[in-house]
Amino acid sequence: MTMDKRLTPSELVRIFARVQTERLILRRPRATDGSAMFRVHGDPETYRYTPVDPDPDLATSEATLRRWLDQWDEEGYGYWAVALQQTQDEVIGFGGVRRFVWRERDIANLYYRLTPAVWGNGYAAEVAQAAVQFARAHLSHLPVVARIRAANIPSLRTAERSGLLRRPDLDEDEHLIFALGW
Ligand SMILES: CC(C)(COP(=O)(O)OP(=O)(O)OC[C@H]1O[C@@H](n2cnc3c(N)ncnc32)[C@H](O)[C@@H]1OP(=O)(O)O)[C@@H](O)C(=O)NCCC(=O)NCCS
Repeated sequence: MTMDKRLTPSELVRIFARVQTERLILRRPRATDGSAMFRVHGDPETYRYTPVDPDPDLATSEATLRRWLDQWDEEGYGYWAVALQQTQDEVIGFGGVRRFVWRERDIANLYYRLTPAVWGNGYAAEVAQAAVQFARAHLSHLPVVARIRAANIPSLRTAERSGLLRRPDLDEDEHLIFALGW
């Protein structure tokens, strides 16, 4: 019988705070990542399929960043800042999993948003695969879920390549659902 032991936030943060994939560094965001947050979340191109407007100003992106950092502090994991190993510190986007309540259950919500200059290189797939692997291995009590608009083909492809399964039985009016562990 396997024990589903839940890791504490201090154990989780040691696992999640810095992850290296083939080409990327996935790291806990820092308070100084506000301008990178705004570069990605203020760019209308990255909101083409998202029903909300891009962030109107730096302060809005910084407020979101603070909420993400608070969640890291409390829970030991959350969305990563994504950098290329080649350039180390230049943030090209954000993604990963954070705990989220959906249908009255805690889930590990899968997310990715990269700056358009780097699209088409398979980086999102690399982020998503690492996020799903880490969530299944270390947050096994949480289903991993991605909710994606049907028109957002790059995002659908990324979810497929992450290892999540398409779940038409869970679809919503606005979103197609991919999941593992639900
Ligand atoms: C979704 C997103 C993260 C994908 O990033 P990416 O690094 O370009 O992804 P990949 O290079 O792994 O490509 C994923 C798929 O999209 C396709 N794609 C990439 N850029 C594309 C473009 N400009 N137009 C159409 N398809 C594109 C790729 O061909 C690939 O499909 P394939 O597996 O059939 O080859 C990126 O498009 C993005 O940040 N979008 C805006 C934010 C968003 O919609 N996030 C998800 C919902 S919250």
